[in-house]
Amino acid sequence: MDLKGELKELLNQFKDDAKQINSLADLELLRQKYAGKKGRLAALLPEVVKLAGEEKKELGKKLNEIKSELEEELSQLQEKFLKQTSQPQSQFLKTLPGQQPPPGHLHIITQAVEEIVDIFKPLGFVLVRHPEVDWEYFAFEALNIPATHPARDEWETFFVDSPADKKYGRLVITPHTSSGQVREMLKGQLPIRMLNISRCGRRQEDVKHLQTFFQFEGLAVDKGISISHLKGTLDYFARHFFGPGRQTRLRPYDFRFTEPSFEVDINCGLCLGKGCKFCKGGWVELGGAGMVHPKVLEYGHIDPKEYTGFAFGWGVERTYMMKSGTQLDDIRYLFNNDLRFLEQF
Ligand code: FA5
Repeated sequence: MDLKGELKELLNQFKDDAKQINSLADLELLRQKYAGKKGRLAALLPEVVKLAGEEKKELGKKLNEIKSELEEELSQLQEKFLKQTSQPQSQFLKTLPGQQPPPGHLHIITQAVEEIVDIFKPLGFVLVRHPEVDWEYFAFEALNIPATHPARDEWETFFVDSPADKKYGRLVITPHTSSGQVREMLKGQLPIRMLNISRCGRRQEDVKHLQTFFQFEGLAVDKGISISHLKGTLDYFARHFFGPGRQTRLRPYDFRFTEPSFEVDINCGLCLGKGCKFCKGGWVELGGAGMVHPKVLEYGHIDPKEYTGFAFGWGVERTYMMKSGTQLDDIRYLFNNDLRFLEQF
């Protein structure tokens, strides 16, 4: 193809390419390809310079005409894309108020946690934090549940896939807040009035169980602590959280870290203990409690001959569900994050 043909071809190809572009970035590439310093038009200039006489004059003129045409087309395209991307002034009203997000509120479980903290505070219980991923040692061993003990099965534990520690064993997602008991004792500050509220994990899920749930754990260690202190504390909590007329009942149970151990029941919020369809007998279960086992005190470097203690551990969600007027038939509603449900509380 002669030089004249090449110039014609270049212009045609430029026009075809120009139809394909959609953005300022594409436009810049187009400009570089055809009209840039190292572009196709610049590459033909030395060929024109080499010519002589009339031919040089004619093709020189042609080259300049094509250059102008490219520049004209490129600037029109630039204007078009700039218009598309810039906001027209007339549509921007500086005085128009922004869109207000709808007012929200704390999640009901956060509200319950705050309420629980406020109730225990006047008794001297201090809110603490302990790890939510902890060593097997604090979750079981130090709570008098050795590695091979069948009681471990009840805690349906999630183990973390990481190297075990020689002394403390494997890492677990804490299956209960009791893992904070010995950690609290090892702080070495007596007496203890601990309130440990924390996320727990167990391999369970159904209408009564969540894989991730919250427990609140009370621990009191002092000289002369007895079961009557435990019972008085539980009744005080029941009256303040559930309302007047509510009481707790202790049923013998077996936890390895308390002796004696109890399951704590509360009289039903619907029938107040008479017995109804919901409670089947007047009482509903709240959680576990008991007097701290002497061995656990020893794991916490506390002399059991000098000190005694009580502990209790309940699920925040289940406790909240037992409040009058909020009897839910599925615990999972609490974390489905459906606003139609959450907005009611
Ligand atoms: C314990 O976890 C003991 N650590 C409680 C304890 C503390 C006893 C201190 C003695 C002294 P248990 O496994 O029963 O016990 O759980 C206590 C409460 O946690 C239950 O009553 C329930 O309210 C709540 N809970 C347990 N598992 C789940 C779950 N998967 N989903 C929701 N709540 C749960």
